[in-house]
Amino acid sequence: MPGIAFLLNGTPVRVDGTAPTRTLLDWLREDRGLTGTKEGCNEGDCGACTVMVTDDRGSRALNACLLFLPQLDGKAVRTVEGLAGPDGTPHPVQEAMVTHHASQCGFCTPGFAMSMATAHLNGRTDHDDQLAGNLCRCTGYAPLIRAAEAAATRPVPGWMTADRDFIGSQRSSGEEAEGREGQTAPLHGFRPKTSDALADWYLAHPEATLIAGATDVGLWVTKQLRDLAPVAFLNGIDDLKTITRQGDDLRIGAGVTLTDLLAAMEPLHPSFAELLRRYASVQVRNAATIGGNIANGSPIGDGPPALIALGARLHLRRGAVRREMALEDFFLDYRKQDRQPGEFVEAISLPASAPALRCYKLSKRFDQDISAVCGAFNVTVTAGKVTAARIAFGGMAGVPRRAARVEAALIGQDWTEALVLAAREAMASDFTPLSDIRASAGYRLTAAGNMLLRYFHDLKGTPVSVLEVAP
Ligand SMILES: Cc1cc2nc3c(=O)[nH]c(=O)nc-3n(C[C@H](O)[C@H](O)[C@H](O)COP(=O)(O)OP(=O)(O)OC[C@H]3O[C@@H](n4cnc5c(N)ncnc54)[C@H](O)[C@@H]3O)c2cc1C
Ligand code: FES
Ligand code: FES
Repeated sequence: MPGIAFLLNGTPVRVDGTAPTRTLLDWLREDRGLTGTKEGCNEGDCGACTVMVTDDRGSRALNACLLFLPQLDGKAVRTVEGLAGPDGTPHPVQEAMVTHHASQCGFCTPGFAMSMATAHLNGRTDHDDQLAGNLCRCTGYAPLIRAAEAAATRPVPGWMTADRDFIGSQRSSGEEAEGREGQTAPLHGFRPKTSDALADWYLAHPEATLIAGATDVGLWVTKQLRDLAPVAFLNGIDDLKTITRQGDDLRIGAGVTLTDLLAAMEPLHPSFAELLRRYASVQVRNAATIGGNIANGSPIGDGPPALIALGARLHLRRGAVRREMALEDFFLDYRKQDRQPGEFVEAISLPASAPALRCYKLSKRFDQDISAVCGAFNVTVTAGKVTAARIAFGGMAGVPRRAARVEAALIGQDWTEALVLAAREAMASDFTPLSDIRASAGYRLTAAGNMLLRYFHDLKGTPVSVLEVAP
């Protein structure tokens, strides 16, 4: 029976006969006795479980609590126990953490060290962003950032790049990856390498759970203790990870991670990219996919409002049958999407240019927080008049939704502040938001209206920023 093979701190390991939804964190701590990787929240929020995972796309920091073992097949994992050199030489970030007193109780320390070491390997010096997914409650961030800055001046140790040589050489035999009609679900989950194989298998197993980045599905296991079998892992499907230019459009595969989407959006849609920078944390963005963000149908997901404002189209596939629709039509009702059994999200396409697009995320914390309200605006003004408007919100209804009456109030009118102030009154007829722990209904409605005003000033050139907290 083929198992799961990967490199753990430089040593090849094989895992056989384990549940497909066993997390790396549990396995490290319970089966391997590697307790350096800590369990804090077990839901992707604290970063105490951060490990470095390397594959042919590079090295990434990931949360081990939201990482299932089959997702690691053919990759290399480095935990805090493998951070020092083979002869015990400390990694530069370990030395810097000592020198700069960047640890007190130490519980967060292994996670910080792994995030810093991965950033160090990748030459990232945006330390605030790189460490936004790691919580520390004792030391304070100043010494941690000082340590990261100090380490950045030191070269990457040779042992940190050795993992790349291993990639692919230990991948288990492809047996479990070959889907055949009628085949029973494989022990370690179905792990297709192409979307064709996924399409065939999912048609035969429409009851299966698809797992892409597992940043939602992981919590069904760690918090709800659900048995998800049968499952299919999408992270080995390279043809779902592509971003291609098709004329004036971009086609983004469902398996593109939020990290890769952010990089692709930076030159094209900088405001969307800035929104994505505030999407969770580096560790979550490294795992989460845009397909998962859409398919989960969350009313507070950050991707859909921006994509709807862009006029994105969703591409679905069921077996050999493909269909497409405007993204807003996919969201039927709270957690109810227009997706048939056995049908999956294949891609999303969107215009490569939309200079008037602006996205505003309002959340209680700047980093690593879910939106209370997320507004995305794309208004076309020609010769002083509004000729088209796409305005979409998350957090205002049971689904991500356009502000149809506000749009109607704008179209055909002169683009003035007086128009915007009048049109935002229509927000109350577009939305009846809920009160919950993130915000009250009244606050949401007021905030959404104010975002429209902010957008007006933004387009007029008054500097506004999605940075809710000034440095
Ligand atoms: C700590 C933390 C912070 C977060 N912060 C944010 C945030 O700031 N903003 C935000 O929007 N979200 C946030 N999320 C939610 C989550 O990251 C996103 O919803 C994510 O994009 C889901 O993608 P995934 O690849 O991890 O999906 P998964 O968890 O793998 O799957 C999610 C759902 O989509 C289905 N699915 C996945 N891929 C496909 C496909 N191709 N076709 C059909 N169905 C599919 C799965 O079956 C499942 O139902 C956060 C999550 C965590 C844990
Ligand atoms: S234990 Fe908190 S992010 Fe994994
Ligand atoms: S040192 Fe205690 S949580 Fe960071």
